[in-house]
Amino acid sequence: MSAMTLKEVTRRFVTGNRSFPAVDNVSLTVRRGQRLALVGPSGSGKTTLLNLMGALDRPDGGTVQCLGVELSTASERKAADFRRKHLGFVFQQDALVPELTVHENVELPLVLLREDAAMRRETVDELLKALGLSQNARAYPGALSAGEKQRVAVARAVVHSPGILLADEPTANLDGISAGWVLDTIESLARKKDLTVILATHDARIFGRFESTIRLEDGRIVESHV
Ligand SMILES: Nc1ncnc2c1ncn2[C@@H]1O[C@H](COP(=O)(O)OP(=O)(O)O)[C@@H](O)[C@H]1O
Ligand SMILES: [Mg+2]
Repeated sequence: MSAMTLKEVTRRFVTGNRSFPAVDNVSLTVRRGQRLALVGPSGSGKTTLLNLMGALDRPDGGTVQCLGVELSTASERKAADFRRKHLGFVFQQDALVPELTVHENVELPLVLLREDAAMRRETVDELLKALGLSQNARAYPGALSAGEKQRVAVARAVVHSPGILLADEPTANLDGISAGWVLDTIESLARKKDLTVILATHDARIFGRFESTIRLEDGRIVESHV
């Protein structure tokens, strides 16, 4: 079973009286454990495609199958349930809750999955330790650097051991060193947790590190190395 299979997926947006495809007839397969970079200039459809893959949005045509489950036609409730269990998301802006500590932020997905307190504590402690973030466990996000915050966001995205991590320009707001550091974090977790990673970026320093890349232009795949 593949991690992700898209068949002839199209998503149209309407602006004014014009309707245009932000994602235009895209077919692709992502293998389990594959690390794939979606690259292309701003406006090429990377975010739209990631949102379709994560069932945050639905296509106007075509099908999206994620870990063997047809998500393009699933009810919102089923899609939300699937996301909570099987997917992790990282966005350009870290979406950490400022009122919660680092430990509490990373714990959130496990709370939503109603895991018991002992399991949550152990899992979060272990993950923060593995990432060298233990000393920040009681800190609030406001006290962290942009790179540290984004690493915490990555930890939170994988704490429940999802099958797939979807990351949308996770290093766009970072300097080169912090960006590399965030990518190191994603790579080490991917290896350890046998994670499929699909990451959108237009940063050559980042996608240069990916073996598999798909290039988008105007919503279409124009180059594919997978
Ligand atoms: N909700 C929306 N409504 C209308 N147009 C949108 C919407 N989201 C994205 N677009 C348009 O779709 C195209 C692709 O956008 P996007 O997927 O965000 O590209 P990227 O992430 O590669 O920068 C752009 O032309 C963008 O303006
Ligand atoms: Mg985008």
